[in-house]
Amino acid sequence: MTNDSSKLALFQQQTETRQKIVEAITHQFATEDEGLQHTLMAAKRAGLPEIQISPIQGKLLQLLAVACNAQKILEIGSLGGYSGIWLARALPTNGRFITLEINPTHAMLVHNAFVQAGVSDRAEVRVGKALDLLPQLQNEAPFDLIFIDADKPPYPQYLEWALRLSRPGSIIVADNCIRSGKAFEEPEDEGMAGIVAYNKRIATDPRFISLALAMDDDYTDGFAISVVQR
Ligand code: SAH
Ligand code: DHB
Ligand code: MG
Repeated sequence: MTNDSSKLALFQQQTETRQKIVEAITHQFATEDEGLQHTLMAAKRAGLPEIQISPIQGKLLQLLAVACNAQKILEIGSLGGYSGIWLARALPTNGRFITLEINPTHAMLVHNAFVQAGVSDRAEVRVGKALDLLPQLQNEAPFDLIFIDADKPPYPQYLEWALRLSRPGSIIVADNCIRSGKAFEEPEDEGMAGIVAYNKRIATDPRFISLALAMDDDYTDGFAISVVQR
């Protein structure tokens, strides 16, 4: 074998191994129940983009929520309600989950998904631009966990609000903070500028202890996780 073809073979083997690992972890630790599967199908049928978090990311959100004994959770960016169901299920029955969504069609699907998954007693979608809705949440704060997954340019502003609406020990998670490594380089557009600034801020501000983790389906994107320092 030439050097190039053996390199290619090794690369293909590694890709397959990674896929096998993701499948095995998903199967053993993060299987979707009917509620989650139904939500994905309804979103697909309605033509929503398939940009929801992975099952492993859903399970990680649950684990983090339980770790901080979350009673109140806030999400920015609902899509079809998939991540919302993972999060709402980590709450006690008297817990509160609020998710913010700008698109009324998405919000309608989210409402239906929460009813159908049996979490509408604790989970609610609010319709509007996140930056308009966030100031209205101050009465309902502090939130124990805040998940940021909406439009990317205002990520640093979402972080400001997350900090304002949290308590020491709250966990702040943001999706899409790796972007194949672009999240750590000179940004090429407004969206990347938001994410690059977000990462810089959580990495350097002493009020957070943070880590960006490449952990989505193909290890090229993932969460940045921060804990608000006590
Ligand atoms: N968290 C979801 C995926 C969210 S996709 C999941 O994993 O299942 C991003 C969502 O944010 C889309 O539904 C989009 O309509 C919404 N969004 C975009 N800009 C927004 C804004 N300014 N305020 C609120 N929601 C916004
Ligand atoms: C996009 C947005 C997301 O939140 C995501 O997880 C993946 C892709 C997008 O806007 O393309
Ligand atoms: Mg995302």
